[in-house]
Amino acid sequence: MELPEDADGWDTIIFLYNSALKEVGTRIEILSDEFQHVHHYNPIEYVKKRIKSPESIVKKLKKNGYESTIDNMVMYVKDIAGIRIVCSFTSDIYRIAEMLGKQNDITVISVKDYIRNPKESGYKSYHMLVSIPIFLSDRVVDTRVEIQIRTIAMDFWASLEHKIYYKFEGNAPAYISRDLQECAGIVSQLDAKMLSLNEAVLEAKAAQEAEYHRLHPTG
Ligand code: GTP
Ligand code: MG
Repeated sequence: MELPEDADGWDTIIFLYNSALKEVGTRIEILSDEFQHVHHYNPIEYVKKRIKSPESIVKKLKKNGYESTIDNMVMYVKDIAGIRIVCSFTSDIYRIAEMLGKQNDITVISVKDYIRNPKESGYKSYHMLVSIPIFLSDRVVDTRVEIQIRTIAMDFWASLEHKIYYKFEGNAPAYISRDLQECAGIVSQLDAKMLSLNEAVLEAKAAQEAEYHRLHPTG
């Protein structure tokens, strides 16, 4: 497997993508802290960041018929820097996506909503390709980051499906793919149920507090 020859260019590029991951990671952390601070509730369960391995970059370029050059990787591999935000509820996903998209210096390049339009496999997730400026000593470089936002249940499904896909190198027996699709349906039901349960909890809690204040007007 050949890697790009221009080692210096490679290091610079990876440095940029790493910096972009840090930038976006910090934005997410601040949103998460603010939520905790203002609403006493944190919509984000966990965040994972990764830089695509050189092997995967080369593999992806090859798959799409491109030579392994630095230029091609910057141009055609959109997910060199990837960040995954795992939330409790589906509603949190859209809230977080909107808050990130609204930040002045974050440019949303494209969105793929695999929650409203799941993949045939059953895959669900909200994908945003964004770019963020990286301020270097003598220039500013807009750098792309792929953000995937999903619920814990969607994440569970995706990681299992990913492992199975790799085990069979994409040729899983039909019944396994069917079972996975069925599981994807269960994931959606679970997410919907958990969301309505959470809404019911919030309503019940608010009613309880209102009743308490009615009985203890000064308290
Ligand atoms: P890739 O070439 O895989 O990057 O696909 P793409 O350029 O069409 O982008 P897409 O938004 O469809 O997928 C990007 C990423 O989403 C992948 O690298 C995976 O991390 C994830 N993903 C997409 N489809 C699936 C799927 O069917 N199963 C799982 N487990 N993950 C998926
Ligand atoms: Mg990808």
